[in-house]
Amino acid sequence: MKAAFIERHGGPEVLKFGEMPDPVAASGEVVVDIVAASVNGADWKVREGKSGQLSKFPYILGRDFSGVVSAVGEGVRDLRIGDEVFAVCDVGQEGAYAEKIAIKAAIVAKKPDSLSHVDAAALSLAGLTAICAIEDTLKLQAGETILIQGGAGGVASFAIQLAKHLGARVITTASASKIVRDCDAVFDTVGGDVAQRSFTVMKPGGRAAFIASGAQAPKPDRSDVIALRPNVGRDRPHLERIVALVASGAVRPPEATRYRLSEAVTAHRVSESRHFRGKLVFLVR
Ligand SMILES: NC(=O)c1ccc[n+]([C@@H]2O[C@H](COP(=O)([O-])OP(=O)(O)OC[C@H]3O[C@@H](n4cnc5c(N)ncnc54)[C@H](OP(=O)(O)O)[C@@H]3O)[C@@H](O)[C@H]2O)c1
Repeated sequence: MKAAFIERHGGPEVLKFGEMPDPVAASGEVVVDIVAASVNGADWKVREGKSGQLSKFPYILGRDFSGVVSAVGEGVRDLRIGDEVFAVCDVGQEGAYAEKIAIKAAIVAKKPDSLSHVDAAALSLAGLTAICAIEDTLKLQAGETILIQGGAGGVASFAIQLAKHLGARVITTASASKIVRDCDAVFDTVGGDVAQRSFTVMKPGGRAAFIASGAQAPKPDRSDVIALRPNVGRDRPHLERIVALVASGAVRPPEATRYRLSEAVTAHRVSESRHFRGKLVFLVR
């Protein structure tokens, strides 16, 4: 199969396009022929080695995708060859910048006909992360006020629509967080100084969720607020929640800029610039 992969850590230029061995479905797995895979904010951090040094090369990046089941491993009863599916790779696994991937069937969801492969790929990890942060971690309630930091990003755009759908008052900002105060909840997708400023806008008892500050939430500089780190696990119910939110019109798929897998270097340059709209998606076939 063709894939975009790295043979060492480094800048966008370390991304290569070429042949890699076809994956095989182990017990409990399916092989999916990928139609679309998305670029996530985390991908260039992995490429650079910023989120830990990889021990095995060549390494195929990419955490979410949509495609068609082409092989079914032993013990898989609920998926068949030909099923259109989408998924987020298991924690600690990647490999979606490729024509094929083997993945645990239990964390794959069926893609409805109403959602294109490009939209499903664009929504997967961003939607899963937003749902885990807004619903599971912050437990956002109707009538509450939430500040969502970095509103133009993939995760934040989904989170804004979800929070509105839940009946919350949503404030989103890039750098003007100083003018905001008395928030019940904050969802920070930016990290660094922006994350730390979250604590100044919260009311006593407020809670904040952080996904761009590493494995731990930053420590609050006051004792009357809670800092949380969402646990973004992989499972089918969260993917089905994405499908339901889109089907009900609560969340719209993002604007997707399409690339071929052979253009991975360009796509990563854009992703790394951090200033673009919507999602970057590889149209694999
Ligand atoms: N499992 C997890 O924990 C998990 C899952 C998904 C993502 N993440 C992390 O969450 C972060 C966001 O991911 P993503 O895929 O949504 O990334 P993305 O689409 O690249 O979005 C990042 C956004 O941050 C904004 N931004 C950059 N610098 C900023 C600043 N100084 N102040 C305010 N906003 C700023 C940018 O908006 P402007 O263009 O307006 O500056 C951009 O839209 C990444 O760090 C990623 O690694 C974690």
